[in-house]
Amino acid sequence: MTKVRTAVFPVAGLGTRFLPATKATPKEMLPVVDKPLIQYAVEEAADAGIETFVFVTGRGKTAIEDHFDMNYELESVLKERGDDRKLNSVTDFRPNSGEIVYVRQVRPEGLGHAVWCARHAIGDDSFAVILADDLLLPSGLALRSMIEEHERTGANVVLVQDVDPADTGKYGIVTPGGATDTATVVSDIVEKPSPEDAPSTLGVIGRYVFHRSMMDELASTGRGTGDEIQLTDAMAASLSSRPLHAVTNPGRRYDCGTKLGMLEATVTVALERDDLVDDATTVIRQALEAGTDRRQT
Ligand code: UTP
Repeated sequence: MTKVRTAVFPVAGLGTRFLPATKATPKEMLPVVDKPLIQYAVEEAADAGIETFVFVTGRGKTAIEDHFDMNYELESVLKERGDDRKLNSVTDFRPNSGEIVYVRQVRPEGLGHAVWCARHAIGDDSFAVILADDLLLPSGLALRSMIEEHERTGANVVLVQDVDPADTGKYGIVTPGGATDTATVVSDIVEKPSPEDAPSTLGVIGRYVFHRSMMDELASTGRGTGDEIQLTDAMAASLSSRPLHAVTNPGRRYDCGTKLGMLEATVTVALERDDLVDDATTVIRQALEAGTDRRQT
């Protein structure tokens, strides 16, 4: 079994749930406090041992490439000012030359199609897929255990969590078919079932670890839900040739593709930061009191 050293970051979607913010700014560049979602995702991958970062980008996503490049002017001004803290904040996380690969998805034809666009960059190796709009904390915890599961068993691996039964239509939902000490063995998986049709409430959240053969499944996957090429359909097809294991998320997940998830992540991360916790607590308290006053008048 090959070691998992490469991660694919599909970032070519339109981000329509976050309009108008995402009209000219990629969703993955939206910040939680002061760091863009895509940087959390890259740091998480590095924390889990990933060495090559493959971005599937599209039209209007150049801000993501710029974010991971050197900005000479900014860095020399910060150096001249002796502002090491700010300088480190723009240099510390940067992967080295050659560790980032960019491929293009010409049109957003679905998550499965976006992953397939990375096929030449993957070569013959197993790989992870990371959706940056799912922010997972603590960084690297879930992905590390998924990689271990794949390297130990050879199974394809998804990350799941118990979702609100009313929300099954927002997720890929798995049918549990058994269990090992470390994972649920998946017997089927279906994209966005209605609550009446859902086989369980175990929803797939944005982390995957796949054997290279998933690229072949994707190559022969037709259009599914939403007329898009769905990763879930390729995973369902792969069940006949390779087991699929679901690891339960051992940490916290914030759905930053939605307004409320982003708000929750922002408040939580601010309250966890030593430099912000006091002022953030005051501001949140004042906002809650003002809200109560307004509702009472
Ligand atoms: P989403 O399902 O969140 O779609 O994609 P979206 O277009 O980004 O956002 P909404 O639903 O319109 O608000 C999950 C991930 O897959 C990527 C997105 O960039 C996001 O990171 N994606 C999706 C692609 O790269 N290409 C696609 O064709 C679709």
